Amino acid sequence: MSDYIGILLDGSKFKRIPQRKYGHERLNFYNKAAKTYGMIPFYLTINKVNFTEGTAQGFIYQNEKYYYKKRPIPKIIHNRSLSTAESIRYKVKQLSKVSYLYNEQTRYSKNYVHQLLAKSNLIRSNLPYTLPLNKTNLSFMIQHFPSLYIKPSNGSLGLGIIRIDKWKNRWIIRFSDSMKIISHDQLLSILTKLTKDRYYIIQQTVPLAKINGGAFDIRVTVQRNRIGEWQVTGMVAKAARRGKHVSNVARGGKVYRLEPTLKKLNLNVTNTKQSIQRLAIYIAQHLNQYLPHLADIGLDIGIDKNGKPYFIEFNGRDLRYSFQLGKLHKEWYNTFKTPIAYGKYLLQK
Ligand SMILES: Nc1ncnc2c1ncn2[C@@H]1O[C@H](COP(=O)(O)OP(=O)(O)OP(=O)(O)O)[C@@H](O)[C@H]1O
Ligand SMILES: [Mg+2]
Repeated sequence: MSDYIGILLDGSKFKRIPQRKYGHERLNFYNKAAKTYGMIPFYLTINKVNFTEGTAQGFIYQNEKYYYKKRPIPKIIHNRSLSTAESIRYKVKQLSKVSYLYNEQTRYSKNYVHQLLAKSNLIRSNLPYTLPLNKTNLSFMIQHFPSLYIKPSNGSLGLGIIRIDKWKNRWIIRFSDSMKIISHDQLLSILTKLTKDRYYIIQQTVPLAKINGGAFDIRVTVQRNRIGEWQVTGMVAKAARRGKHVSNVARGGKVYRLEPTLKKLNLNVTNTKQSIQRLAIYIAQHLNQYLPHLADIGLDIGIDKNGKPYFIEFNGRDLRYSFQLGKLHKEWYNTFKTPIAYGKYLLQK
């Protein structure tokens, strides 16, 4: 007998299932993986869950077709929604009380994640120095570091990320599409304005290694697998365009395979990959102690020219398409398959 595996999507993606247009979320990969493990995918969206009845209206995939049906809320659900609105987040929380929702929460502030990681002795030396942005912390950071990143604590896709570099007695400030040379007072006034309506963090610049003139970091997908253990499912390098300070693919970043990239830098491929993987697994295991039902994360890990890894960022809903762009088809598929395999493990438990 097959069991249902729930997959929770945002309303906008859910609506497009009948047209089979679901953007980066490759439902056909979930369908294929579910079949492998003898499960039936049941696609849900939070506004179609009826808590009073204990049912949900959603799409079941069977015999190569989607059927819109009402069914009991599945026992296990892979959360792929990105809850931002308060009312939606509240309902997702409700759902986690009646079902095993894994990756229960998909968004955490950068500052919170950083504070959690800083508690670990195994991870601390791989973290760039980071503080919440305010006047006191700014003057401290400016005294200690010649180059800094200023990022919205709840930001995404490289938007609104600023870099500042000391230059003689002035500062070079880089925004996504422009740069300026400004005085210390101008810098203070720009940053004061920024923090009026948003939380930011201020972070030491990691001396990232470069490929073809662009600083790069590595997307590392870390997931729980068929036996419930954390594994690194895939790694791919993404480099900033020459002169740019963010590597996000959404901001023109270019994707490269990791191994040839490491070779070009004359780094020992096996050792460097291992140290990145080790850090990634430590991070997943450590965060797992604090973040509920963590199962599937995308990390941005940078390396310096000696191959030392640095944690840059945590994503609770990795879009996984860097693997597609890097033509790493096996890894790309596996990033969808592994969470389904973990679902099978949960069902059997
Ligand atoms: N401290 C840093 N040192 C060097 N480069 C950095 C640093 N912080 C960020 N970057 C560059 O900027 C890019 C974007 O930063 P980050 O990943 O923190 O935010 P984001 O991508 O906007 O958030 P999200 O991944 O949630 O969409 C990184 O991939 C990296 O290229
Ligand atoms: Mg990022």
